[in-house]
Amino acid sequence: MSGALGSMKRRLKPASMAGALLFALSAWPGSACIEVIAHRGASGYLSEHTLPAYALGYGQGAHWIEPDVVLTADGVPIALHDTTLDRTTNVAETFAGRAREDGLHYAADLTYAEISQLRVVEARPGRFPYATFRVPRLADVLELVQGLNRTTGRRVGIYPELKSPATQPALAAKALRVLEGADLPVYLQSFDAEALAALDTELPRIQLVDAGDPIADAALDAMAEYAVGIGAFKDMLFRDPSLTARAQAAGLAVHAYTLRADQIGSAFDSLEAEVAALAALGVDALFTDHPDKVISALGNKACPIAM
Ligand code: G3P
Ligand code: CA
Repeated sequence: MSGALGSMKRRLKPASMAGALLFALSAWPGSACIEVIAHRGASGYLSEHTLPAYALGYGQGAHWIEPDVVLTADGVPIALHDTTLDRTTNVAETFAGRAREDGLHYAADLTYAEISQLRVVEARPGRFPYATFRVPRLADVLELVQGLNRTTGRRVGIYPELKSPATQPALAAKALRVLEGADLPVYLQSFDAEALAALDTELPRIQLVDAGDPIADAALDAMAEYAVGIGAFKDMLFRDPSLTARAQAAGLAVHAYTLRADQIGSAFDSLEAEVAALAALGVDALFTDHPDKVISALGNKACPIAM
C-alpha cells in the first residue's frame, strides 16, 4: 500500500486505524489525509537545519522532520543544505584561509570537530535574527526525534535528503549506517535517480523531481521500481494537474515542496489558498518551513499526529 493510506497503515495501531481511516475518508475525497514535513525543521521560525528548528517542527505537529545531509572531511554525515558552509554559518570568519579557489568553504574540507565550532546564521531576510545554534550531525537529529518520540509517545519520522551523492560517493553508505536500525519511520530522498535506485537498503525512498517538461507515465513506472513516492516541486503539480493522479496510479505517493508563509506562490494571495490548491490535487504530503500554519490551513485534511 502506498500514499497516505499506506503511511497511515504503517503508523497507526490496529485499534485506532479503522476509525481514523473512516474519519479521513469521509473528511476528504482526495488523499485520505495529508502529512506535513518540517522542511529543514520549522525553518520559518528558527535557523534551518538546527536541533531547535527540528524540535519546534516536532512540537508544531509535523509528521516528518527533514534534514538535508552532506559529509564532512572525516566522513561524518551532517545536517546541511548546501555542500558549502558559507550561506548558513560564520565559516568565513572562523576558518579564513580554508576556502577553495571559488572563495567558498566546503563541508568536505573541514572535520566535524571544526564544523562543530561554527555558528549557524540565518540566510533568509526577516527570519531568526541571532547566530545562536550549531551544525548537528545526522546522528544528533535521529537522537532528537527518537527521544521526542519516546517522551511524547508519538511516531514522527525522519526524512533525510542525500545531497549531491554523485560528488560524495561515501555519503549514502555513511548515512545508511546511521539510519538503519533506527526506531522510527524513515523516508530517504534524493534528486539523483541513479544514486537513489542503487541504494542497498530496505528503507523507503522518495524520488525528488523538478522537471520543466511533463513526466511521462513510463518515467513514473520506472521510479516506482525503487521508490514509494515522488517529492515534486509544487509548480510542476500546478503546471501538470494530471501528474499527482498519474503518479498515484503508478503506486507513488506525491509529496509537494516547499510551502513558505513568507514566500507564497505567485498565483496565490494566501498560504491557505496555496495549501487548498495542492490538497485539491490530491497530494499526500507537504514540505513546509511553517508546519503550524500548514497544519492549520489543512484543518481536518491533516493526518492525525502519528502515534
Ligand atoms: O527535499 C525536498 C526539498 O527540500 C527539495 O529542495 O533545495 O530545499 O532541499 P531543497
Ligand atoms: Ca531537502
